[in-house]
Amino acid sequence: MQRRKMVAGNWKMHLNMEEACGLAERIKNAVDPDLDRDVLIAPSFTNLHSVKKVIEGSPIFLAAQNMNWEEKGAFTGDVSPLQIKDAGSTHVIIGHSERRHVFGETDGMLNKKVKAAVTHSITPILCIGETLEERESQKTYRVLETQLVKGLANLSENELSSLIIAYEPVWAIGTGKTATPEQAQDAHIFVRKKLSSMFSVSFGETIRILYGGSVKPENIDELMAQPDLDGVLVGGASLKAEGFSRIIHFQGVITG
Ligand code: PGA
Repeated sequence: MQRRKMVAGNWKMHLNMEEACGLAERIKNAVDPDLDRDVLIAPSFTNLHSVKKVIEGSPIFLAAQNMNWEEKGAFTGDVSPLQIKDAGSTHVIIGHSERRHVFGETDGMLNKKVKAAVTHSITPILCIGETLEERESQKTYRVLETQLVKGLANLSENELSSLIIAYEPVWAIGTGKTATPEQAQDAHIFVRKKLSSMFSVSFGETIRILYGGSVKPENIDELMAQPDLDGVLVGGASLKAEGFSRIIHFQGVITG
């Protein structure tokens, strides 16, 4: 199964408008329109529209880092699916571990967000991953399973055809501690098998699973040499054009 690779940059709560547009411009210049992989960037809400204008006409995709599940209403401080789409986003990151652990988002809330995304034809990138404590107490598989089962509840294979999963072990995010390629591959196989049993084998084989957690130019090639890694979600290292460009142009064996 040939799954198109994706390199995604999560800019988190960094960069003012000028910096965001400048970075987008440099990434755009680094991406060959015929590149055999997808590139995506996720700026803050306030920079979505300006960054969209910069990348217009390039193959780079734009994602919001979060959204509410309602179309509109009295939800002070939140942003709706219609609004992120209006600002130019085609994708949305849902359930990043910072949303889960710092802001208390639950699997139930994330399930509503995934549903809202697909309803509005926005591609959801659902993040899942275990904490260090959970890994050390051998609960990794159980945690991943729960996050998948609850996060994708009441959704059909058809509705989820565009779904992207990002496996991001919480202990590897922003810590400089990357999962080994074998640890990442092992988790990805587990996720793929779980998706196959929840939906169908062809669904499990088609869905792209990205790895995230301290991905950098120094470790990208060995990570991408793993057959079940369909790409990466990059935080810190996506904020520098040169390093991110190196990550985009990873040398891993393209298998499928
Ligand atoms: P990091 O972040 O690359 O800085 O570890 C990854 C993420 O949070 O998606």
